[in-house]
Amino acid sequence: MKYPHPTCRAGLAGCFFGVFTLVTVNVAMAAGTASGGLALAGQRQCLGCHQVETRRVGPPFQAIAQRFHEQPGAADHLARVMRQGSSGQWGAIPMPAQPRLSDADALRLAHWILSLAKE
Ligand code: HEC
Repeated sequence: MKYPHPTCRAGLAGCFFGVFTLVTVNVAMAAGTASGGLALAGQRQCLGCHQVETRRVGPPFQAIAQRFHEQPGAADHLARVMRQGSSGQWGAIPMPAQPRLSDADALRLAHWILSLAKE
């Protein structure tokens, strides 16, 4: 049981519950859409900290897409970052490593995130 992450406990009241309630809500919503990426992000507990368009604990996926989508090797980079964690790229709060995320799921999520970039 990895959650709540220490950063959640420290300052972000509601993060712990957010991980569960938001994920449930988002997965339920995603089930009605064609978005496999969003459903996967829900299943892998990303949505407790990330939303597509608005900042939550972590940066919005759309902002990540905007920053990386034109960089070569971005998908591999993001997939690696998800599994190893990240700090100092977007602000003071670090992202905990997600070691239980498989390589294949990490890469699927990375491609999905990059696909959110607006032209
Ligand atoms: C406990 C909260 C939390 C969870 C859970 C979480 N993230 Fe993050 N994520 C963050 C934070 C905070 C950052 C910003 C880290 C930084 O500034 O370097 C971040 C950054 C990222 C980045 C950008 C990394 C970079 O180098 O720019 C990606 C991509 C990402 N998260 C994807 C995911 C995915 C996919 C999942 C689900 C498998 C996930 N995150 C789960 C909090 C979280």
